[in-house]
Amino acid sequence: MVSQALPWWQSGVIYQVYPRSFKDSDGDGIGDLQGIIDKLDYLSWLGVDAMWISPFYPSPMADFGYDIMDYCDVDPLFGDIHTFDTLVEEAHRRTIKVIIDFVPNHTSNQHPWFQQSCQSRSDPRRDWYMWADAKADGSPPNNWLSMLGGSSAKPGTLWKTEVEQVPPPLVPAGSSWKWDAATRQYYLHSFLEQQPDLNWRNPAVQSTMFEVLRFWLDRGVDGFRIDVANFILKDRLLRDNPPNLSRTVIHKSRGDYDSQLHIYDRGHPDVHGALRDLRNLLDGYDGQTPRVAIGELAVFTLQEWAGYYGANLDELHIPFNFSFLGARWNAKAIRRIVDATEAILPVGAWPNYVLSNHDEQRVASRFGKRSARTAMMLLLTLRGTPFLYYGDELGMRNVVIPPERIQDPQEKNVPGLGLGRDPSRTPMQWEGSPNAGFCPPGVEPWLPLADDYQQINVEVERGDPFSMLTLTHELLALRRSRCALHRGSYAALESGSQDCFVYLRKFDDERLVVALNFSDEPQMVRIAEHGEGRILLSTSLNRKEHINVGALMLDGHEGCIIELNSSI
Ligand code: GLC
Repeated sequence: MVSQALPWWQSGVIYQVYPRSFKDSDGDGIGDLQGIIDKLDYLSWLGVDAMWISPFYPSPMADFGYDIMDYCDVDPLFGDIHTFDTLVEEAHRRTIKVIIDFVPNHTSNQHPWFQQSCQSRSDPRRDWYMWADAKADGSPPNNWLSMLGGSSAKPGTLWKTEVEQVPPPLVPAGSSWKWDAATRQYYLHSFLEQQPDLNWRNPAVQSTMFEVLRFWLDRGVDGFRIDVANFILKDRLLRDNPPNLSRTVIHKSRGDYDSQLHIYDRGHPDVHGALRDLRNLLDGYDGQTPRVAIGELAVFTLQEWAGYYGANLDELHIPFNFSFLGARWNAKAIRRIVDATEAILPVGAWPNYVLSNHDEQRVASRFGKRSARTAMMLLLTLRGTPFLYYGDELGMRNVVIPPERIQDPQEKNVPGLGLGRDPSRTPMQWEGSPNAGFCPPGVEPWLPLADDYQQINVEVERGDPFSMLTLTHELLALRRSRCALHRGSYAALESGSQDCFVYLRKFDDERLVVALNFSDEPQMVRIAEHGEGRILLSTSLNRKEHINVGALMLDGHEGCIIELNSSI
């Protein structure tokens, strides 16, 4: 049977590079684009198919690049547009696709558009942002809250400006509205006050943002990761969000933000129309190579998530599936997520899984060192596109950040809830020399390095046949070479052990079983009807034997990929 090749974003694995932390080429303690270029051979060796680079645009860095001052340039900290062009060229030469972050919901408050918007209520740019009058008592237009903790959390300090004669009443802590004393209106910031929300109902905003996409597509980028994609349109009437009485949370607790059901400040039905337009634009470039739209979404249910593929699969190719991020690490919970994802997926839609990213805890810290290996096997053997966060291939852990070195505005605004994102954004560990090869010795990296970088680094782990890096490398090679893994069907199997998650991946005659033990103890897995097989890869990296799948013994936290006999 001749089967059609899948587009690269379906068959491939996407690696996330956080540019500040990947490799510093110019010795300022902050990673940059040239640093990424210098490490492309590593990514090529590792065996990933694409990289997603978090924002590198000119920015005051209030939210480390998610506050953009110019959508069509590169911050000098990271290089310039020519370095970016070289990066694309060099990546493509190694058959690595390049995906960049697109941040449509908000700009920086330093963006010239916003500066103009602040000039007066009649400025032509006024309507580019979400301005609204105060209520009669002077309080914000509604009860919406900022997801990163509004700096209005310090009531009373915000409006004591020279312009303001009569201060309005206190803005409630965490409000996503910021009072502008000069023009006497509030503007909306769903995130930091330095990140004013754009008004996507204004056609000029939409068309300008689509021009931004064309600018980068014309430079050869292969797709976009769309930041908070479902925030871009809100309730026209700016209605209050209702209380979240059952305190349903999506994947992690966000303090007061969870006190509301966010039905009016994000996820408006009109978002779908905007995403269809965006998809249409991308499809127009498909003639050269398929371009991908990946969306970050804050959603409450898988049902809602699945809606972002579009009724006719005409919205996002990949709405990020964050179900694992809040999951308990046990076989039952993980199987439930995978089965639910498969069941809810619209016909023809392609699944995806995310285990961590720059906003989340490191896998090795959430699940533990041994489970991190099983987790990597899970991620790279499920049906759908896997997202691999830089450093997870080494087993990098969260780094404890001393209070005086905290950088993340979220930790500063809402301290003590464990929401700080610095611990998982620390410098990539390349080697055992001072500063781990991230930046020159004697330079202070922007975030502290992990204490264990002399053991956990690329150089040491490449030379160790049993390391986490070797495991990831072998998993990636196996995934690439086996159709069953990168494109086959998925079916969960009963194994007789509650602590094991076992599934079959199948393509034509090729049948591979993945068996993952989530417990500390050895477990017997019995899937008798599948007969004999051969272990292709174990997370321990020391088993390649023939086995009877009617009685497979797995060590504590061991995972195995087994090729069933009929396809040997
Ligand atoms: C997304 C980004 C996060 C950022 C936020 C605001 O969630 O992943 O890092 O702070 O959007 O842009």
